[in-house]
Amino acid sequence: MRALSSTVHAPAGAPRLLARCRALVRPALEEAVGRMHPWVGEMAAYSFGWCEVGGAPVVASGGKGVRQALAVLGAEAAGASGRAGVPAAVAVELVHTFSLLHDDIMDGDPARRRRPTVWKAYGTGPAVLAGDALFALAVETLAATAAGPEALRVLSAALGDLVRGQADDLLFAARPWTGPERVRPDQYRTMAEHKTGALLGCAAALGALLGGAAPTTVDALDRAGRHLGIAFQVVDDLLGIWGDPAVTGKPVHGDLRERKKTFPVLTALGAPVPAARRLAALLESGAEPEEAAVLIDEAGGRSAALAEARRQILAVEAALADVPLEAGAAGELRSLLDFLVRRDL
Ligand code: IPE
Ligand code: MG
Ligand code: MG
Repeated sequence: MRALSSTVHAPAGAPRLLARCRALVRPALEEAVGRMHPWVGEMAAYSFGWCEVGGAPVVASGGKGVRQALAVLGAEAAGASGRAGVPAAVAVELVHTFSLLHDDIMDGDPARRRRPTVWKAYGTGPAVLAGDALFALAVETLAATAAGPEALRVLSAALGDLVRGQADDLLFAARPWTGPERVRPDQYRTMAEHKTGALLGCAAALGALLGGAAPTTVDALDRAGRHLGIAFQVVDDLLGIWGDPAVTGKPVHGDLRERKKTFPVLTALGAPVPAARRLAALLESGAEPEEAAVLIDEAGGRSAALAEARRQILAVEAALADVPLEAGAAGELRSLLDFLVRRDL
């Protein structure tokens, strides 16, 4: 992303770092999934990209594993071995997958990572059940750790916020573009922090907790993850409008076509300029995505979103600088941050 690259450096070792963490966590994750009911476990394995429908092994994209990496790095940042963070990593990956299974039902999405979603492949009832089972397994995993009650408190707080974020996201869809009921940028920010940031923060915080970090460090990592979530979501919105579909894997102007209340649109609509009024009229009459994208830019939505992403990245940095962290792990956390928010437009 051009305008972000002045503040964010190249994502040097992030893919290697993610692979290292996935390799560290995979055996424990497989062991946990292996304890599930076989049919439910197959749906979980399918979601992780380990098998096809029917259980035949396959190597499919199971996601980058950002949350498990944050948990491993959280433990390392606390001065412990990455191994100490593995139960946290397993729990947050299970919860993340659970939230995606249910989210795809809520959003009615037929595909994820270029494969049918679980509800499409197995049915809605089974997908709900698999989500529930993943959640139960996450709780069991954390309860078995030395930090059990405190770890479960951190996880439940994140889940409560995740539900808040999902609820607001669903409700935002029915709100008007303009007038007193419109969605304001600060409401979007809160929604994104809850929907995406809470679990990212929880991942790093739980890793640190299991690594024996002080409460102030656990809290700082939680805060860092929350700001990262907002930055990630805003960058996602920018890419959804101006990103290269060959890079993002998403259709051009998909968010505009689906009339999503994204940050660039919301900030553009709030600008006291003629382009904002033309944009509102266009959105209300069934938007032409190309024309809408031009008006959003003209009304300042694109630059406002870039500025917001930068502000949130600085807030992540500030949270990380607030507490003593093991230097190597802190550097890796920063390279992961760069990798996640510096995707090319
Ligand atoms: C998913 O949010 C976030 C959670 C599951 C909590 P979205 O609905 O915005 O994301 P995608 O596009 O389905 O991944
Ligand atoms: Mg969704
Ligand atoms: Mg959703």
